[in-house]
Amino acid sequence: MSDEPKSGFTRRDLMRGALVGAAAAAVPARAPAAPPSRAMGPHAVPITLQVNGKAERLVIEPRVVLADALRDRIGLTGTKVVCGRGACGACTVLVDGAAQCSCLLLAAEVQGRSITTIEGLKTDRRLAPIQEAFVAADALQCGFCTSGMVLSCKTLLDKNPKPSRDEIREAVSGNLCRCGTYPHVFDAVQRAAGMKTADNSLTIVEPLALAGNGSRLLADARVGPATLEALEIEEA
Ligand code: FES
Ligand code: FES
Repeated sequence: MSDEPKSGFTRRDLMRGALVGAAAAAVPARAPAAPPSRAMGPHAVPITLQVNGKAERLVIEPRVVLADALRDRIGLTGTKVVCGRGACGACTVLVDGAAQCSCLLLAAEVQGRSITTIEGLKTDRRLAPIQEAFVAADALQCGFCTSGMVLSCKTLLDKNPKPSRDEIREAVSGNLCRCGTYPHVFDAVQRAAGMKTADNSLTIVEPLALAGNGSRLLADARVGPATLEALEIEEA
């Protein structure tokens, strides 16, 4: 036989009400749910990208990655695509100042963000200091990794104007250089940071041990002030 009173309001109801009330008091008010994102595609849709300070209006399928939009639709072929899967860093661009692999970002998802490519570093037809330093330190061979490498180094210097060799090494750890120019890259960053003479000086950069035959490469980095005409990397 039940010991619950017949009033219609039982002890079990009382306990349940108290527990629900306590739980409600403990949970902060939830922010209103974000509206569901608008479905796009599969057909081409209009988007606007802010690239190097300029609005670029495209009609593009939502599946297109930023690297392809930059290269094939906007014509900024300084951004290179090597692996296409986020492993090599060749496609690095700056998104709101942070280095990102453009092969992993959909163009449509970076609308409203500030995108900087290697072409956007120059000002008034002068290379940026980090670009000048790469030339002075002979920090490129085939050049395929160079755009991404330069942009990774620029973000480092923006945050840390006097990086150590280890900090530079870490900053470019996501940028693979099959030509093995890393010691020259480290030298270039230190030059751009004002830690070494960059212009009109003869600098013997540190020896680079070559894999396989154990021979060593010494690079003579006698380079004067660079001009864009002389330095633009041949388009792929
Ligand atoms: S092409 Fe994007 S990381 Fe290799
Ligand atoms: S310079 Fe050739 S891959 Fe780096």
